[in-house]
Amino acid sequence: MRFIPSLIAASVVLAEVVAAGAKVPRAFGVPSDDGFPNPSPQQILDISQRAKGKLPDGATPSSLPAGTVTTLQLIAFNELFETAFFSSLINNITNGVDGYTDAPNGAVEILTAVLAQEELHALGAVSILKAAGAFAPSPCQYQFPVAKIGDAVALAETFTAVVLGALQGAGKQFALDGVADFVQLIASVIGQEGEQNGFYRLLLNRIPSEKPFLTFVPAPYAFSALQLFVVPGSCPFPLSDINLPIFPTLAVNGGPVAVIQPNDQTLSFSADLSTSPNAQQYIGGDGSGLYVTYTIGQQQPVSVSITNVQWQGSVISFSAQFPYSANQADGFSHGALTTTSNPSSFDALVQCTLAAPAVIQVNNNIV
Ligand SMILES: *[C@@H]1O[C@H](CO)[C@@H](O)[C@H](O)[C@H]1NC(C)=O
Repeated sequence: MRFIPSLIAASVVLAEVVAAGAKVPRAFGVPSDDGFPNPSPQQILDISQRAKGKLPDGATPSSLPAGTVTTLQLIAFNELFETAFFSSLINNITNGVDGYTDAPNGAVEILTAVLAQEELHALGAVSILKAAGAFAPSPCQYQFPVAKIGDAVALAETFTAVVLGALQGAGKQFALDGVADFVQLIASVIGQEGEQNGFYRLLLNRIPSEKPFLTFVPAPYAFSALQLFVVPGSCPFPLSDINLPIFPTLAVNGGPVAVIQPNDQTLSFSADLSTSPNAQQYIGGDGSGLYVTYTIGQQQPVSVSITNVQWQGSVISFSAQFPYSANQADGFSHGALTTTSNPSSFDALVQCTLAAPAVIQVNNNIV
């Protein structure tokens, strides 16, 4: 593997780009030159050829439990976004767009396979939903807060880490619902997304296998985070068709993603709580009864109190400690603004959340 210095340097910039609230004027759709998202049987074969494999062909149920339906809808919603992202990334590289001219060797070949693989992930989830007579999300318009290949790779690494956290919950939901075949199916996707992230991480000069147990992400946090990439109002269905709450963004160090050094430190947070009914009683207060609760690996949620609370209307800003060393919090973790300290489970964490997720990336470069 040839390391690309420009990618490494650029990855640090992602946080700043996102932090600056860089408004991306352009909207991107899912790929459409291969029949996606409604390919003919021949087009599916063509996509499979690029993906290096075919869709699952086991029988699909004609009805599904509600929790499984929501889980598959979240997966489809995410995979559709990913197809738009990778299709835009490939276009930028092949068209020599400014900022995308120093792609690593083999990037287009690799990304072409990844795009086709994500298309099949999306088509697979959509077809299971349709076979069960459930609502299946169709594509929205998307926006990406990046304009350089290194930032794009860093973003791909971050959203794939979020997905890898959310798919853990998918497997658990399928188990709870007694749909054992889907547990096997989703495990095949988890491995696949993990392979992708090892590649992105190596490009960013990070250890490919991030940590022993990847950080869990509750489904509502993943759905909330995905809204950052969706052009508001662009989905051809009400977002409430997917039965998951959307939490206000919890910005950390000025943006949705903080890229920080591996040590204990104070982070700054902010959130606009105007749309959160549960937050109203705290607005204007001194922050007592509020916490930042971190999810790190497979450890139980861990809370710290918040300090330096300031309000501008319903926008809260505050500081909180990031307990890096006590939790060996390398790689990806996330924080939420909660009304409970040390919630007793991840379900309890979601129940007491006012804003989330604040994505934290501890930057461990290979030296
Ligand atoms: C592709 O380039 C455009 C123009 O710079 C940019 O807005 C977009 O975010 C890029 N897409 C990706 C996936 O990097």
